[in-house]
Amino acid sequence: GPLRVLVFGAALRAGSTNARLASLVARLITEAGADADLATMRDFDMPLYDGDAEEAGGIPAGALALHERMEGADALVISSPEYNASVPGILKNAIDWVSRVQPQAFKTKHALLVSASPSLVGGNRGLWALRVPLEHLGTRVYPDMFSLARSYDSFAEDGSLADPGHQQRLTETVEAFLKLVEADTRYVCLQRR
Ligand code: FNR
Repeated sequence: GPLRVLVFGAALRAGSTNARLASLVARLITEAGADADLATMRDFDMPLYDGDAEEAGGIPAGALALHERMEGADALVISSPEYNASVPGILKNAIDWVSRVQPQAFKTKHALLVSASPSLVGGNRGLWALRVPLEHLGTRVYPDMFSLARSYDSFAEDGSLADPGHQQRLTETVEAFLKLVEADTRYVCLQRR
């Protein structure tokens, strides 16, 4: 069947521009013939990691739900804000909880990182910081990343990017990522025969 890609925006607020970027990426994935499962961190409510809470009550439902959605996907796209030049605590907390669940959902999974920021430089520093825990967990983080600057003014009415050059660059990045995932997934299937 078609590739399944979990696309999630890593912010909580309803008007999140990363949620908008995630839904645009999901649309591009669908247009490329793959299945997109769109989510945001709002779908995965979980407390701050606490070893005592884990010992007493196990993994919180929100983290288990995220783990399950990841296990159902061939690849991930994360659209994350940059907070103080790094990973938002919400996202790092979710990664920490999910890393406590077996099998390791981040391991060997391909991930494309994108970011939306109202600044002029975009959220690229946050994405570089996000690579550290993901690569530690064995995620195959796609070398190319996409950072949308001036994110409050960059979307057209229909949800695409107002600048055709930026829209084209995003489309090409998503398509190249899907090609890699597809080639790798097919290769794994052949090996398993
Ligand atoms: C920010 N923001 C921000 N932006 C940026 O480009 N570089 C940064 O280092 C930071 N730091 C930062 C810290 C904190 C605590 C907050 C709350 C915000 C601004 C951030 O990009 C902006 O709030 C975005 O709108 C967040 O993404 P969403 O919510 O639109 O998806």
